[in-house]
Amino acid sequence: MLNFDFSLAFKENLGTGVTYEEILERSEVASEALKKVIDAKPGFIRILETKEYLEEVKNLTSWFANFENVVVLGIGGSALGNIALHNSLKPLNWNLTDFDRKGKARVFVVDNVDPEFVNAVLSKIDLPRTLFNVISKSGTTAEAMANYLVVRGFLDKAGLSPAEHLLFTTDPEKGVLRTIARKEGIKTLTIPEDVGGRFSILTPVGLASAFAEGINIDALYIGARHGLERYKNRKASENPLILNALLHLEAINSGKNISVMMPYSNRLYSLADWYRQLWAESLGKRFDRDGREVFTGQTPVKALGAVDQHSQVQLYNEGPKDKIITFLKLENFSTDYEIPALHNDIEALSYLGGKKLSTLLNSEQYGTALALAKNGVPNLTVTFPELNEENVGEFILYYELLTATMGELLHINPYDQPGVELGKKITYGLMGRKSYEDFLKEYSGDNWRLKL
Ligand code: PA5
Repeated sequence: MLNFDFSLAFKENLGTGVTYEEILERSEVASEALKKVIDAKPGFIRILETKEYLEEVKNLTSWFANFENVVVLGIGGSALGNIALHNSLKPLNWNLTDFDRKGKARVFVVDNVDPEFVNAVLSKIDLPRTLFNVISKSGTTAEAMANYLVVRGFLDKAGLSPAEHLLFTTDPEKGVLRTIARKEGIKTLTIPEDVGGRFSILTPVGLASAFAEGINIDALYIGARHGLERYKNRKASENPLILNALLHLEAINSGKNISVMMPYSNRLYSLADWYRQLWAESLGKRFDRDGREVFTGQTPVKALGAVDQHSQVQLYNEGPKDKIITFLKLENFSTDYEIPALHNDIEALSYLGGKKLSTLLNSEQYGTALALAKNGVPNLTVTFPELNEENVGEFILYYELLTATMGELLHINPYDQPGVELGKKITYGLMGRKSYEDFLKEYSGDNWRLKL
């Protein structure tokens, strides 16, 4: 179970900002927002009530066993969850060739169309022993589709059957992937209609690659379900979801437009990346639900402790007071090093001797949190007692629910992303897609270039 510490987020310890009492006085509005979200039963909550998606993935167990590699081709919500699960729940050296994976697959996520990146993966895998999981809810996303075509070209050239090496994870009815799958007998997994990309990590989108590499997907659900019960039923003063929502709302309303998530663990870092998309695309909106122009949102930033203490923390402490910081802390690391007691005559080294690396890392986290508080920067800490499926499942549900509750509090729709459409359409025009010529004409470089 996750632990939350909000003590360094309130005026009592910061000398500035909002007090715990003041936040509690506002709790009713957040409790109502949370209730509204839960009562509406969005897809990311509904899926937890069924075993359907877990079973759909588990049905592929014997097929998965044929493969040494699973390569995910997708982007955004169709990739970030896969990366987050892979990095947080498998050892960091899992994909290295000499690591003993006990028959489970390596997982690569190709979420960009940078040819050098694509080549870095494709040139290092044994094609006959590879399954490509093409993930796209819409089935039209240019990056995922282009990489699918590249891979399909590779399979054709190698004389390998697409139906044996491809899996399509897509909308139950719509989209070209569904059409091709039906025509060519390619296996498919379902992205439920009521779950949008960035909320889809616990659907087959995230579950399939996780399962293929040996992650316990049932335990992910158990953690998420426990989380839901925990946050649903607690009264405001003890509810980490309500307190966090109100703190972030207060931050937004007082000009703190940046939300930093800073894990002190390399394995947790990709969860901050996943959060970054969730917070940005869900809350960054021009119009509210009544059509009023609001230009709301909060810019999520990820940082890694202790690395970014030597890059970002100067700014966080002394720069503009426009941030609220969330630390992610891991209490028990799966492996540790005791620092050898060498150079005992050199004081700058001797204090480290006999201490664990994890003790140093977590002391740095606490030291940074206290220093930020001393500088009046609100911060809170989410602690993972250990990194396992249940805790990660709870974390996922917590942030999905928090984001949706924030959407309610900001009176915007957290489930759409109209702001990414125009750029896509201009790109289609640039790439010569039929019916998009007008976008190219209107926005062509020549019309916009400054004549200097
Ligand atoms: O959250 C979202 O909806 C987006 O980030 C999508 O996941 C992303 O654009 C990819 O879309 P698709 O799965 O349709 O290829």
